[in-house]
Amino acid sequence: MLSKYIKYPLAKETINNEDINALIDWLKTSPRLTKGDLTLEFEKGWAEYIGTKYAVFCNSGSSANLLMAYAALQAGKLKNKKVAVPAVGWVTTIAPFMQFGFEPHMVDADPDTYGINLNHLEALCQKEDIGAVIFVQVLGVPHYKEALLDLQKKYGFYLFEDSCAALGAEYQDGTMVGKVGDAASFSFYFGHQLSTIEGGMVNTNDDDLYHMMMMARSHGWGKDLPKNKYDELMKEGGVDPFHQPFTFFIPGLNLRSTDLQAFLGVRQVKKASWAADRRHQNHLAYAKNLSGKFDFQKWGDHKPVSISFGCLARSAEHRRAIVETLVEAGVETRLFSAGNLGVHPFWVNEYGRFDGEVANEIHQRGFFLPNYPELTEEEINNICELVCSVEVVV
Ligand SMILES: Cc1ncc(COP(=O)(O)O)c(C=O)c1O
Repeated sequence: MLSKYIKYPLAKETINNEDINALIDWLKTSPRLTKGDLTLEFEKGWAEYIGTKYAVFCNSGSSANLLMAYAALQAGKLKNKKVAVPAVGWVTTIAPFMQFGFEPHMVDADPDTYGINLNHLEALCQKEDIGAVIFVQVLGVPHYKEALLDLQKKYGFYLFEDSCAALGAEYQDGTMVGKVGDAASFSFYFGHQLSTIEGGMVNTNDDDLYHMMMMARSHGWGKDLPKNKYDELMKEGGVDPFHQPFTFFIPGLNLRSTDLQAFLGVRQVKKASWAADRRHQNHLAYAKNLSGKFDFQKWGDHKPVSISFGCLARSAEHRRAIVETLVEAGVETRLFSAGNLGVHPFWVNEYGRFDGEVANEIHQRGFFLPNYPELTEEEINNICELVCSVEVVV
């Protein structure tokens, strides 16, 4: 949505002047720029923050989704290639499964969290032997953890968690979002809760998956593996050590990031809790202002940490009027994520249109309001006043 001027952007850069100055000083020392020790430091810090054994840094959230899907397949984690995918999320939540020849089944969104609808998911599991499920932690609102894990136990699928837009969100019991699935992805793209310019991470406690990701991320070679695992593979493969490190154990990819991004990432981890708290407070301020006037996600006693505050107008026409008013006033806005992925050409061309009831509502009525740590309650009140001033068109 283009505006004459922007008073309130949807997102602000989380890399500040201090980060840039520190980066410049570091660059002047002529450090190694490709993946190196800083990547390991960032991964260790992020794994600790989320509370998992491992974190694997890669070059985007989309690459993180690709990496975990491919590694799970290569590591023999999936009983078959039937995967349940959500209608509300991002194209690259689903794309890796299409690219690797899975059979995706789309599931509508939950009317409260907008995450994958668990009643519909269970109905699908009763009809099809589903080998994997990917669910999205939509816009930093934690999705039903216990119920999902119960379904996993009952139907034995591998669980992927796309937390790309939910960094720092937390369950009431203190579990961080990104610790629910067998593997979880994060994005560090501009505008997300934290940024390394571009960047992504996969968190997991699964040793086999981690080992496979170490190889899949870098061409399929073994040299990023822990030494004992590497030695084991070398022995198993009868590899002459003279050929090291250029022995390829699997047909790999190159999804690595660099130590330049990791330098920024190490600094971002240090402000992660502060950024999450500020975004959470802003989220609550929006909810207080808009409650009863607009539909938006529900989170119970959990801690939502949003990129933007997602909201549903009363009708498509009402949304159009709101967007026009916001743009005119210099408040940046956009439609709600991708709306219903099941009506986008990438999906329709392969499988036909998916008309999920809730996903369609989000598609037709959803819009975003700004959220970033520096936004004040007063500014949020002003934005909400503007939104509420738009006459309802049904
Ligand atoms: C739910 C979700 N998954 C994946 C991605 C992709 O992340 P990236 O832009 O880092 O590739 C996004 C991006 O916004 C997202 O919202």
